[in-house]
Amino acid sequence: MRHFLWLVDFSKDEIQKIIDLAFQIKKETKANIFKPYLKYNQLAMIFEKSSTRTRVSFEVGINQLGGNGIFLSSRDIQLGRGEPLKDTARVISSMVDLIMIRTFGQERLEEFAKYSKVPVINGLTDLCHPVQLLADLMTMIEFKKFDFENPKNTIVAYVGDGNNMANSWAILAAKLGFELRIATPKGYEIDEGIREKALEFARKSGAELIFTNDPEEAVKNADVVTTDTWVSMGQEDEKEKRIKDFRGFEVDANIMGLAKKDAIFLHCLPAYRGYEVSEDVFEAHSDEIFKEAENRLHAQKGLMVWLKKQQEK
Ligand code: CP
Ligand code: NVA
Repeated sequence: MRHFLWLVDFSKDEIQKIIDLAFQIKKETKANIFKPYLKYNQLAMIFEKSSTRTRVSFEVGINQLGGNGIFLSSRDIQLGRGEPLKDTARVISSMVDLIMIRTFGQERLEEFAKYSKVPVINGLTDLCHPVQLLADLMTMIEFKKFDFENPKNTIVAYVGDGNNMANSWAILAAKLGFELRIATPKGYEIDEGIREKALEFARKSGAELIFTNDPEEAVKNADVVTTDTWVSMGQEDEKEKRIKDFRGFEVDANIMGLAKKDAIFLHCLPAYRGYEVSEDVFEAHSDEIFKEAENRLHAQKGLMVWLKKQQEK
C-alpha cells in the first residue's frame, strides 16, 4: 500500500504514470465518459484548515469515479475536541477506502498515515502541497512548457515565500530534472531539510536548483513563473510584517516581462492581487491559472485511481 504524503517518496517514473492516468481520465471526462474506476469507494476528507479547490476537486473527483466523498471539518468531528489523531485514523480507515487530510505539521500527516489501514493523501500541510504540484505539472505539459523526455528545456521561476508551495516545487524539479530558481526575501528561504533532499535528488536527475534573494535573476528567461500568497494559513498574525518584508517581490508586469515572451504564469490560488501578483499579470494569465485550478480535479482522479491500483499489486 502506498500513501501520497510528499513527492520525496515518488520516482520520476511514478509521477509520470500518475500524470498519464490523469490525462487519460481527463480525456474521458471531457467526452462525458465516466468509468467507475473506484465504484463504491469511500473517500474521507479531513480538513483542519480552510479550502475551496481541494474540497471541491476531491469530492467531485471521487463521485465521478463512481465513489463517494465525506467532508469532515475538524471543527465538527471529535478530532477538534481532542480525540487523538491515531484513534481517528484507526476508526476512519476501518470504514473508508481512501483518506485525504489537510493539516498543519507534516508530522501530523505522517502519524495519521502510520495508523491508517488505507492510502492517505496529503491535501496540504505547512511543509508541502504535493497534489497541487500534480495539477501544475499537467498544466505545464498542456501549455507545452514541460516534456518528460526533455526536462532540461524547462526553466521555472518561483518568486515569493519559501513556503509549502516553494518546497514542493523544489522536490518536483529535483525529481524530474528541470531548472528551478526560487527567489525569496532573506529569512524566508525554503525549509532546510527539503533543500538538502532536493539537492540530493538533483544530483541524480541533473536538475539545476538556484536559490536567490533577487526576483529578477530568477525570472530572467523563464518558461514558467509562479508565486503563492505571502501569508499562508496559520500565519495571519505575521501579516503586517510579511507585507513589509516581501516588498519588491510582487510579480508585476516588469518582473513578468523578464521571462520568455510566451512564458506562462501559474498560481495555486487563492491569489491576493497587489501583494504577490499584480492585477494585470493575474488577468493576462487567467487562462493558465484557471486551467491549473481545474486540473486539480483531473490530477487527483489520476492519483486516487493509481493509489488504489497499488493496493491490488
Ligand atoms: N490551491 C488550493 O489548495 O486551494 P484551496 O486552499 O482552496 O484548497
Ligand atoms: N501556501 C498557502 C497555499 C494555499 C493553497 C497556504 O498554505 O495557505
